[in-house]
Amino acid sequence: MSRVHHFPKGFLWGVSTASYQIEGAAHEDGKGESIWDAYTHTPGKVINNENGDVAADHYHLWRQDIALMKDLGYRTYRFSIAWPRILPAGTGKMNEPGLVFYDHLVDGLLEAGITPVVTLYHWDLPVALSGGWLNRATADAFVEYTDVVTRRLGDRVKMWTTLNEPFCASFSSYAFGYHAPGEKNLAHALQAGHHLLLAHGLAVPVIRANVPLARVSIVVNPAPTIPASSSVLDREACRFQDGLTNRWLLDPLFGRDYPQDMRADFTRMGVWQDLPSYIKPGDMQVISVPLDLLGVNYYSRHIVAGDPDHPDQPELSHGVMPPDAQKTDFGWEVYPQGFYDLLAWLKQTYSPKSMFIAENGVSYGDGPDASGAVHDLRRMDFLRSHLVTLAHAIADGIPVEGYFHWSFLDNFEWAAGFSQRFGLIYTDYATRKRYPKDSAYLYQQIIAANSVSE
Ligand code: FCB
Repeated sequence: MSRVHHFPKGFLWGVSTASYQIEGAAHEDGKGESIWDAYTHTPGKVINNENGDVAADHYHLWRQDIALMKDLGYRTYRFSIAWPRILPAGTGKMNEPGLVFYDHLVDGLLEAGITPVVTLYHWDLPVALSGGWLNRATADAFVEYTDVVTRRLGDRVKMWTTLNEPFCASFSSYAFGYHAPGEKNLAHALQAGHHLLLAHGLAVPVIRANVPLARVSIVVNPAPTIPASSSVLDREACRFQDGLTNRWLLDPLFGRDYPQDMRADFTRMGVWQDLPSYIKPGDMQVISVPLDLLGVNYYSRHIVAGDPDHPDQPELSHGVMPPDAQKTDFGWEVYPQGFYDLLAWLKQTYSPKSMFIAENGVSYGDGPDASGAVHDLRRMDFLRSHLVTLAHAIADGIPVEGYFHWSFLDNFEWAAGFSQRFGLIYTDYATRKRYPKDSAYLYQQIIAANSVSE
């Protein structure tokens, strides 16, 4: 017998996308260049040197995309705004056609009965902002951009997210080198991270001032992190990884300053000194501005092992995959229990007022058969198992008020180009035709029933 798990009344059901990943129209209507335009056009950065110049062509097909969302009964849509469409140089002169595009999109969504949720920054930083996030002035530019956008859309959009995944926008972009601008400098990642958090903290009151009844959030991507064994070596490696991926940015957001243990590690590694000159008096208070909601992205967990040759350098760790792990096309472990563990940890550690799942999804390459149907059974399993887990978490008193599946449709997956398909809808990149996958219909049923069956 299948068990049915109900969600609370009024639970927000939605799908997520991001501007650079779906819009295309990279050079249209006065749009400026973003760091992702520059990065993808640098040979060797993205698989097959692919880029988001056209992507899913949503900039032209948005009406059709809204109609599809409506047909499928999706009620909320989280998308991001391309900063360089609004302020092509990052600051200063405003580009009216860019604002008109999002104006129309928001109106179209509302007409279709779909609630818009806007992310202000999902990584497409205007390239004209020299120094990018290394420069404190970029935080001020973000506030200016936020002001322009919230004044324009704030009468109709009530749910706002400042940043998507500041971890990726700092560490993946400035330390690990696989996201734009592609630097490999840990000290720079810490500096960029500070300016991102500052941008967030400065923007929140601006949103509140411009948007009556605004609900403001930031979206983070912490991962449940566990040691590969109970050895001191692995536990130390785990502490470091957890500190880097989870606590480094979350602690300051919740008023705790940068974590002491990590500051000690970073000092030993020569990438931090108390206090770095880029941290100004009052910054930590700005950063810890109270939020209405915490947005959470969950994909998988991390199992961490230390390096026996360097027991004093927990940063020299590696990830471990359980031998029986079920893996996605991206090589990530499918681990629904981690979803529960993460939410429970967030509640226990930071007590956010409320949370929403801003992204959860999976990459599998299934495509249409001769009749156009896409039988993506593994995504259906993923959706079911993760929603059952989420229902358990909510039943146990963890405050989660919405779930947004990543992604509405297949799109440009950053450094992986078009090689990874996360959509509920299959995108044929040659014809731009959309094919709802079986999972898209399963999600439709779940939303209509406000429940999921095991
Ligand atoms: C997240 C990003 C999102 C998408 C998914 C797969 O880290 O926020 O844009 O790429 O991963």
